[in-house]
Amino acid sequence: MTLVDHTPSQLAEFPLVDEDPEHHRFRVHRDTMTSERVLKGELERIFQRCWLYVGHESEVRNPGDYVRRPIGNRPVFMVRGVKSGMVHVFHNTCTHRGAVVCRQKSGNTKVFQCFYHAWTFDSEGQLKGVPGREAYGEKLDFDALALKPVARVESYRGFVFACFDPGVQSLVDYLAGAREYLDLIVDSADGDMEIIKGTNEYCIDANWKLLAENSVDGYHALPTHDTYFKYLVALGTNLSGGVAGTSRDLGNGHVVLEYGAPWGRPIAKWEPLFGEHARDEIAALRANLVAKHGEARAARMADTNRNMLIFPNLVVNDIMAVTVRTFMPTSPGRMDVTAWEMAPHGELPQLRQRRLDSFLTFLGPAGFATPDDVEALESCQQGFNSGGVEWNDISRGMAREPHGDDEAQMRVFWRRWARQMGSAGYLEVGR
Ligand code: FES
Ligand code: FE
Repeated sequence: MTLVDHTPSQLAEFPLVDEDPEHHRFRVHRDTMTSERVLKGELERIFQRCWLYVGHESEVRNPGDYVRRPIGNRPVFMVRGVKSGMVHVFHNTCTHRGAVVCRQKSGNTKVFQCFYHAWTFDSEGQLKGVPGREAYGEKLDFDALALKPVARVESYRGFVFACFDPGVQSLVDYLAGAREYLDLIVDSADGDMEIIKGTNEYCIDANWKLLAENSVDGYHALPTHDTYFKYLVALGTNLSGGVAGTSRDLGNGHVVLEYGAPWGRPIAKWEPLFGEHARDEIAALRANLVAKHGEARAARMADTNRNMLIFPNLVVNDIMAVTVRTFMPTSPGRMDVTAWEMAPHGELPQLRQRRLDSFLTFLGPAGFATPDDVEALESCQQGFNSGGVEWNDISRGMAREPHGDDEAQMRVFWRRWARQMGSAGYLEVGR
C-alpha cells in the first residue's frame, strides 16, 4: 500500500490498527509512529480528552507550594491554595494579555506576579492587583479575570490528574482496574507516599507510543537488559526462576504486568546488592507489612513487581523502586520524558538511600535499563524511517492464553488508542 496524494474522490481509508483474531494477527501501521497527521489527531482526541497525570499532592504539601507542569503540550501549573488548602491546576496564562504567570519550575508563594505588566494573582487564582487600577473605572471584574482552572481536576490517593474536556467521566471511573494497583503502592506506605525531590528529564528520538509499549513489555527485558541481569548474577542474585508473570487488562486502555521479583525490592525483599547489613532491617520491614496487611497482601506488596501503564502516558512501575513516569510527544519522532521516584513519607535515611541506589542502578538516566531502552526505541524509529515495511507485528500470544511475556498488554493499549482516535486512526490511501 503506497501513501499518495489524491483528490478526495480518489481516497479510500484503512485502519492503522488491524486486528484479525481468526488469523491470530494484530498489526499496527508504522504511520502511527511517523505521521504528522496522526500526531495532530492524537493531540486533539487523546491528549485533550483523556485524564492526564499532573503530579502528586506531596509535591505541593504546604499551602502556597506550586509546580509548573505542562500537560498535553499546554502550560499549566499546580498549586495548593493558601486559604483553601485545595490543590488547583490552572492554565498557565495571564488573563491580561497571555504571558505565562508561573515561570519557576517549583516553589512556594502567596502571590504570582505576571512579569509582563505585573498583574498579581493569589494562590487560589484570584486576581488581586492591577497596576493603574484607576484607568479601568469601577467596573473592572476581578472575578472574571481570575486565573482559569483546567476544566476538570481530580485526584486519586494523592495522584492528581487533569482533563481539558469538561464532559470526561470521573477520574475514579476512568482509572478502573488501575485503582487497585495504586492502592497497593499507597497502602504499603500506610497511605502516605511522596515524590522524592528531583526529576529525571530526558528526550528520546522516538515516537511516544514506543515508550508506552516498552513500559509494559516483559518480553524485551532479558535480551535488552542482559548487562543488568549479568550484573545481578555476578552479585549473587538467583535468576534461575526467570521473569514469569501475567498481564491484566485493567479497562480503558490501562494494563499491568505483574511478575515475581527476581531482584530486591527496597520495600521488603532483600538481595545481595543491598549488602549483608541490610538483611535484618528488610526482614523487619516485611514483618511489619505482614502484621498490617496479612501474609497474602504483604507478599504481593513485597515480592511482586508491577509495571503499569495508565492510558495514555502515565507509567507507574513498582519494581526495584517505585517510579512514576510521564511522556509527551513533541513531534512524531521525538518525546519528552519526565520521571520521578516515590517513597514512603518519613522513611528512615538509610532506607531512603538504599531505595535511591536501587532506583538509579536500573531506572536512572545512566542506569542499567534506561539507556538500553532509549537505544532500542530510537533504533525502532530509525528503522521506520527506512521504509519498505508498513506494519509492526504485535501478535505474540494471540494463539494461546497470553503469558506475561506475550504482547497482550500492548494490544490493550492499541485497542484503546484506536477507539479514542476514531476517524483520525485511519489513513487515506489511493485506491
Ligand atoms: Fe500579564 Fe500583562 S500579560 S500582566
Ligand atoms: Fe526496558
